[in-house]
Amino acid sequence: MRHFTSVHDVGDLHNALQKAKQVKENPYADQKLGKNKTLLMIFFNSSLRTRLSTQKAGLNLGMNVIVLDINQGAWKLETERGVVMDGDKAEHILEAIPVMGSYCDVIGVRSFAQFKSKADDYNEVILNQFIKYSGKPVFSMEAATRHPLQSFADLITIEEYKSCDRPKVVLTWAPHPNALPQAVPNSFAEWMNATNYEFVITHPEGYELDEQFVGNATVEYDKEKAYQGAHFIYAKNWAAYRDPNYGKVLSTDRSWTVDTRKMALTNDAYFMHCLPVRRNMIVTDEVIESPRSIVIPEAANRVVAAQVVLKEILTHLG
Ligand code: CP
Repeated sequence: MRHFTSVHDVGDLHNALQKAKQVKENPYADQKLGKNKTLLMIFFNSSLRTRLSTQKAGLNLGMNVIVLDINQGAWKLETERGVVMDGDKAEHILEAIPVMGSYCDVIGVRSFAQFKSKADDYNEVILNQFIKYSGKPVFSMEAATRHPLQSFADLITIEEYKSCDRPKVVLTWAPHPNALPQAVPNSFAEWMNATNYEFVITHPEGYELDEQFVGNATVEYDKEKAYQGAHFIYAKNWAAYRDPNYGKVLSTDRSWTVDTRKMALTNDAYFMHCLPVRRNMIVTDEVIESPRSIVIPEAANRVVAAQVVLKEILTHLG
């Protein structure tokens, strides 16, 4: 693996899950692999889990780790080519990226959708510039359209908790006051479509995701019907994808909040969310605090997912 931006970069999912198991059983087995190798993590957006779990994964592999928050202490970056830089942006990303690449061996990038241009977001303009100009392997720590480290951790968690070969997994939209990107649901859908699971997406009308991510999933607008018989309920908010509403909040209908009444329709389902989560908007206190909530082991598996990816990249470094 050179770069990691989606499920397509991990190859066979069964093998990837086996590697995750090995990493989990013996997290310090590859301490020599990362010796004298530097991981640089670049954040254009806030993070708790990705920041800590990816650092921990790098340290487990013996790497040196540098973290840079672009918006705190670095020069403000211009990202458009051809702009006369007479404003507040002191450095162009086309110089900044190769400079950052010269200080490290592997680069992780977090850069969310900005909802200014759907084309720029869905063409992953920032992430792809890092791939093109850094000269180093690049992995996504959540980009505009996908959050593959999260989805890999989600898959590892489902495999650990599933009680049948083909569980019913339901991705449900849930309300949120702000406009959130589609990266987590897109990516989750992409990874679920790569399994043999029964996969259902439920959301209000107007929240349809990009068809390339929906794939073979069943889209069920009746949320109660979607919940029936589910083994896993995966909640997430996202803003509208379709034009002319791209990036807009169309609803904050709290009948979509994950609650005990809807969870009672399931097959004693586990509750999942990538976190951070807004309680009593996305999910009630009762559900997230219940014994069927697995949000903490899900977050803990972020270290495992990141370590498998970093290990693969380090193994294939030139
Ligand atoms: N789930 C997730 O990526 O969390 P952070 O935004 O805190 O990194």
